[in-house]
Amino acid sequence: MKHLWIIANFKSNKNLMEVLEWVEQVGPKLVKGENLKVVVCPTFSSLEEVAKKIKVGNYQMLVGSQDLSPFEEGAYTGEEAASILKQFVDLAILGHSERRQNFHETDEMVAKKVDEAIAHDIIPLVCVQGSDVPIPGKCKLAAYEPVFAIGTGNPDTPENANLIAKALKDKYGQDLEVLYGGSATSANCKDFVNQENISGLLIGKSSLDPQEFLKIIKECSGF
Ligand code: PGA
Repeated sequence: MKHLWIIANFKSNKNLMEVLEWVEQVGPKLVKGENLKVVVCPTFSSLEEVAKKIKVGNYQMLVGSQDLSPFEEGAYTGEEAASILKQFVDLAILGHSERRQNFHETDEMVAKKVDEAIAHDIIPLVCVQGSDVPIPGKCKLAAYEPVFAIGTGNPDTPENANLIAKALKDKYGQDLEVLYGGSATSANCKDFVNQENISGLLIGKSSLDPQEFLKIIKECSGF
């Protein structure tokens, strides 16, 4: 069965109180659907409380981090090791273009992070900016996010996103699930998820407003 991933990437936005308010508004509205996978990715400092709130409310939502360390636990100041993050997260966004651009993250580092995630039972979601960016073989969830579309209000066309997703699946295997990200909104989301090779959305700006995020879920899943 094709999954429908709807993933909120808060980036460096929202303090703890704001994130918990968001979870309070979105969580109770989610219904159990076997193929629907809703994930919230707040900043590191909110992960513990968010995970707790979702558990207590029994909300149908997973928790993700926006990065993780390429190293095991140890003397790596400032890093969050996968073995520690595992307490709170189910998934980790890796290789986002903002990390590649601003923090000099390389394909090699992304590959190490994927290994760490898998070793600790965290689903790695690797972001690629085109079909030529490598996806480590063990990773089975990727997001095609063209840089021109991120935060610009200028999304790629659903047809082109579908072509890139198909190229990635042809290259890495049909079991690779490919999401689209870049200026996805409640107005255009359906056109992307209706594409044969697209299994959901990674959403930045439009995920920050809980009502807009719920609208996206509703549009895409029809619940
Ligand atoms: P955007 O960001 O939805 O704000 O374009 C998407 C992303 O960077 O994951």
